[in-house]
Amino acid sequence: MFDKLRIDSFSEYKKVYRESVEEPELFWAKVADDFIWHKKWDKTLEYSFEDANFKWFSGGKLNITENVLDRHVAIHPNKTAIIWEPNNPLEETRIITYRQLHSKVCQFANVLKNNGIVKGDRVCIYMPMIPELAIAMLACARIGAVHSIVFAGFSSAAIASRINDAQCKLLVTANEVYRGEKPINLKAICDEALKESPSIQTCIVYRRAIEPTSMVGGRDKFWMEEMHKVTDHCTPESMDAEDPLFILYTSGSTGKPKGMVHTIGGYLIETAYSFENIFQMQPNDIFWCTADIGWITGHSYIVYGPLACGATTVMFEGVPSYPDFGRFWEIVEKLKITHFYTAPTAIRSLAKEPLSFVEKYDLSSLKVLGSVGEPINEEAWHWYNDFIGKGNCPIVDTWWQTETGSILISPLAGITPTRPTFATLPLPGIQLVLMDEQGHEIETIAEKAEGKLAIKFPWPSMARTVYGDHERYKETYFSAYPGYYFTGDGAYRDAMGNYRITGRVDDVVIVSGHNLGTAPIENAINEHQDVAESAVVGYPHPIKGNALYAFVILQNNVEESDALMKEIKETVSKSIGAIAKPDKIQVVNGLPKTRSGKIMRRILRKIASGETDFGDTSTLLDPSVVKDIQEKVEQSK
Ligand code: WT7
Repeated sequence: MFDKLRIDSFSEYKKVYRESVEEPELFWAKVADDFIWHKKWDKTLEYSFEDANFKWFSGGKLNITENVLDRHVAIHPNKTAIIWEPNNPLEETRIITYRQLHSKVCQFANVLKNNGIVKGDRVCIYMPMIPELAIAMLACARIGAVHSIVFAGFSSAAIASRINDAQCKLLVTANEVYRGEKPINLKAICDEALKESPSIQTCIVYRRAIEPTSMVGGRDKFWMEEMHKVTDHCTPESMDAEDPLFILYTSGSTGKPKGMVHTIGGYLIETAYSFENIFQMQPNDIFWCTADIGWITGHSYIVYGPLACGATTVMFEGVPSYPDFGRFWEIVEKLKITHFYTAPTAIRSLAKEPLSFVEKYDLSSLKVLGSVGEPINEEAWHWYNDFIGKGNCPIVDTWWQTETGSILISPLAGITPTRPTFATLPLPGIQLVLMDEQGHEIETIAEKAEGKLAIKFPWPSMARTVYGDHERYKETYFSAYPGYYFTGDGAYRDAMGNYRITGRVDDVVIVSGHNLGTAPIENAINEHQDVAESAVVGYPHPIKGNALYAFVILQNNVEESDALMKEIKETVSKSIGAIAKPDKIQVVNGLPKTRSGKIMRRILRKIASGETDFGDTSTLLDPSVVKDIQEKVEQSK
């Protein structure tokens, strides 16, 4: 699509990268020029690291849906935009062209308007992986409403807190959905949430299943009935480049989740630019990212990036293990997928199953493989390369974050030399640095180095703030190293400048590719009446990458029991979601604390992963607790 912006050799990458660092604003202005604007921007970039204020293309006017829909309808209306594959293979695949998608988006945009939604309003979306999810989000963008998608695996309490944080006015959901063999009644979960979230005036329900659905009069409306009331003409709202496009919550190392705010212009441009260059798609290629749209990966690389580039994108409703462990490969064969983008945790879980699940299917359509969400270990990398790519498909290991909006470190498929377990090189415009223990840049690029990963210059798709809490944004990302964005990750850089991400260096644990803060899990556990205190850490897990280990102090006179452990897990499930349930709970008498009362999680992490060398424990208030915990862990094995 963006021929002018497409890099097609490694020497060109190096040239473009150099230019992008020498004159970042000129570089990004050239990229932005290839998009549809109602009015060109006044200033490419204004920023202050000190105040954590970043503005790209301000004064520019545009509507993102014209860039992802109208533009392609004009060139190739009958090209497939979305291929939808249902959970149950016996149900029919849905094919949606750009023209059809455009029409549905405009129609639903009118439904939103009919229900009182105007520019700037927040709309919460809690939906399964069906095309209507993409339609709902694009409909918001059409009229300038801000979408806040909550992953449909989160609990009612988690939805309620997100709705309340952003004061959403409308909620879009579906009645019931199957994930594998398990039915999930999304509407019932929403009804629970809505008891606690009075800002919602209307709830629009898509009937995914024929089951009867209880509706609350005046508040709840069926999607289909609402769609019948409106036309498919909807003039796109003219938005400022810096107006918010969406809020997406991500866990923090403290307190409640952070509502990361992404803005329209910069997000559009960089998701499209990165998609175009990393995946190197040809016009008839078919892209499948297996993530859920409830996460940033789905926002950027199922919906906005691929559609901005006029590509065909696949949405899969189901799970990799249903009806059996061959489901992914069956879909690759059936839809002739050329580009397959998944998470290391999925690769590891499929690699442990018999190879016959892979060998049954013709995977020869595949050209490029991608990995995202956590470091990919050597073994998984080779399995992916040998058995899925048959040694013929470059693997793009893409590093980024909810906060970065788009991929910042990745090979360009077929162009950048890859190295197993390395995300390799920064995309043009991205200035990475490694920080040493003293907080100084490790400067020499020609030598191997290890440190904490930070970014030295703003990029267009970076999150602009934490919704309603700019101080927290400033504190979390810009205070560790003044003048830099701090990623929270550690990284290793080889002599060629290739980066390998080594993992989080803060209290965030990546479990099966999901970013979980330990603090909110502790808060949830502490809510149980029998719990006095708790500390949660991550430890290495062969499939999930990391698993959660909870150390719990019970209230006096409470007896430890299996039933109690189960209840504690349920408490977490209720307040956050099943993904945050700890794998192990260990009851202890005390926790290793410093004199100032801070729990030394470093020590608990070591105990949880079976290590015995704890380094210096002299700053502990009571060093004997460590031994006590160790003994308890040993006993319970
Ligand atoms: C954290 C961000 C961005 C998509 C999904 C996760 C880890 C992400 C990689 C990679 C090693 C990775 C980092 C990062 N991560 N991609 N290719 N190699 N680690 O988004 O939930 O915001 O999590 O995921 O630790 O900080 P997220």
